[in-house]
Amino acid sequence: MQPARHLVLIGPMGAGKSSLGRRLAQAHALPFVDLDREIEAREGRDIPAIFAAEGEAGFRAKECATLADVLAGPACVLASGGGAVLAGENRAAMRRHGFVVYLKIDVAEQLHRLADDTSRPLIAGDDREAVLQRLAALRAPLYTETADLVFEPAGLDKDTAAEHLTERLRAAWPPAAAAAAPAKT
Ligand code: S3P
Repeated sequence: MQPARHLVLIGPMGAGKSSLGRRLAQAHALPFVDLDREIEAREGRDIPAIFAAEGEAGFRAKECATLADVLAGPACVLASGGGAVLAGENRAAMRRHGFVVYLKIDVAEQLHRLADDTSRPLIAGDDREAVLQRLAALRAPLYTETADLVFEPAGLDKDTAAEHLTERLRAAWPPAAAAAAPAKT
């Protein structure tokens, strides 16, 4: 069986997809791609500006197209956005082209981690806790259904979380297996 090429991190805002992804990429000597930053680079404007100009639907269309392009490209560690699992097409593509890790944290932990955040349009209002609860109710089943592995980083600092996850991945995700397999003659 051909091993999955990409390592795809999913989970809610503040779960640590980017910070852990960067560390995992380094540990596995793979490039790191942050889907939000990739969308921003392509668009030449940041996520709040995209939401303001085109609404969430406009952002989701760009997210879907960018995800497909990244998954079609060279092997990488990919930090997706928290809402990337909403589209069935995205969930199927992640599973087809990657090994998917769900970074699972609860709303209380999200509120703590995102306390100073001003960059995420969906939680820009005063009702942050209610919004996060609503998103969690909708999305948690989608994260679970998409994931090959669930990892709970709460209570661990970033380096320790990355070490623990790397250890969990050792048996489950062998990115070097394809390269190590003997060439067919
Ligand atoms: C979103 C999460 C964000 C970003 C956008 C929408 C979401 O990414 O894609 O603000 O719908 O949960 P992070 O999960 O990296 O914060």
